Amino acid sequence: MRIPFGTITVTDTARNLIQEALASKRLSGGALVRRLEERFAKLTGTKEAVAVSSGTDADALALAVLYDFGARRGDEVIVPALSFVATGNAVLQAGFEPVFVDVERATLNINPALIEAAVTDRTVAVMPVHLMGKPAEMDTINAIARTHELTVVEDAAEAHGAVYKGRNIGALGDMAAFSLYVAHIITSIEGGIVTTDREDFAEVLRSLRSHGRACKCKQCVINTSDGGCRKRFQVGSDVRFVFERIGFSAKMNELEAAVGLGSLERYEEILQKRHNNLLTMIDRVRQFEPYVFTFRQEAHERIGPHALPLWVAQDAPFTRDELARYFEQVGIDTRNLFSSMPTQCAGFAYLGHKLGQFPQAEYFGTHGLHLGVHQDLSAEQIDYFIDSLGEFIAAET
Ligand SMILES: Cc1ncc(COP(=O)(O)O)c(C=O)c1O
Repeated sequence: MRIPFGTITVTDTARNLIQEALASKRLSGGALVRRLEERFAKLTGTKEAVAVSSGTDADALALAVLYDFGARRGDEVIVPALSFVATGNAVLQAGFEPVFVDVERATLNINPALIEAAVTDRTVAVMPVHLMGKPAEMDTINAIARTHELTVVEDAAEAHGAVYKGRNIGALGDMAAFSLYVAHIITSIEGGIVTTDREDFAEVLRSLRSHGRACKCKQCVINTSDGGCRKRFQVGSDVRFVFERIGFSAKMNELEAAVGLGSLERYEEILQKRHNNLLTMIDRVRQFEPYVFTFRQEAHERIGPHALPLWVAQDAPFTRDELARYFEQVGIDTRNLFSSMPTQCAGFAYLGHKLGQFPQAEYFGTHGLHLGVHQDLSAEQIDYFIDSLGEFIAAET
């Protein structure tokens, strides 16, 4: 048996919309991108959503918005030490400096008790990550942010469908950045989207994704049959060549939006299936404590069913890498549970952190892995995963 990490559902709606877009010859961001933004905003319950070309760009652009509101290049953004490396990369790509805070073992997420000590007079934002779809402790994070006048940007790349104390992830900070990469529940193949209640933030985001130009319309009508841009000379010179801020080239195109709209069509059904898979797997993995652990879904939350994290006990008679190799041999695809960005990812070495400074993040970096919980996973495949894990542990202990 083989258990792949992920899958993709491409619906008939997506296929039809792709054909329509190709026939219309309007392929860069237009009506379909706008439709995806409107539907995504409705889903999270935010006033606005702005689609971009990746989750990393969603993180970076959300932070870059802050230059319009007083931030200076080189200011600091607090992020968890454990995340997919894109979180730290995005802070640097936006021109800020990442300040890393360790995570908690039980939640995988930024330890709220350590945040305040990381705040300096250069801190402009905190970017919690809802890792593996488990909501970060947003009430405490928002309270700290209010005290120190920081912007909160949720890195919700992995948290589609997650709920925290009855509120949707994506609507809890000032902005939230989702990835629509193929591994995620709602996908446009490559893509990302920023949600926010702030119309002024959304306007800046629309400019930032398009080189910082003075265009902020919700839907660009250039190169369409309805007469083109009526605002083109409103600012005196051609609006598309007036650059108001340092921007990015981070637009989503119509074909990606078509796949995203198709994916949204089956969202509830896919979410339910993945959530059932996740809860079943969490429940059945508990029998393998104290050798292998996973997280729990608490009463105040719904975990966004991105994947199942596992971590091997410190004193287990086998290593994470031995377990991962075994899974590979028996046909079960896994991924490492990322690394401590400041101390286990070479690109951040210039910041001068030393191994041992982020013990929990480093622990997951050496002891953690994660597996798919996707919609095409069958009950037999889940049985096979549990049986295989049980056989490995029985043989090693
Ligand atoms: C936590 C986190 N942040 C950011 C990203 C970046 O998203 P993308 O791969 O779409 O750039 C990812 C990727 O999945 C992620 O897991």
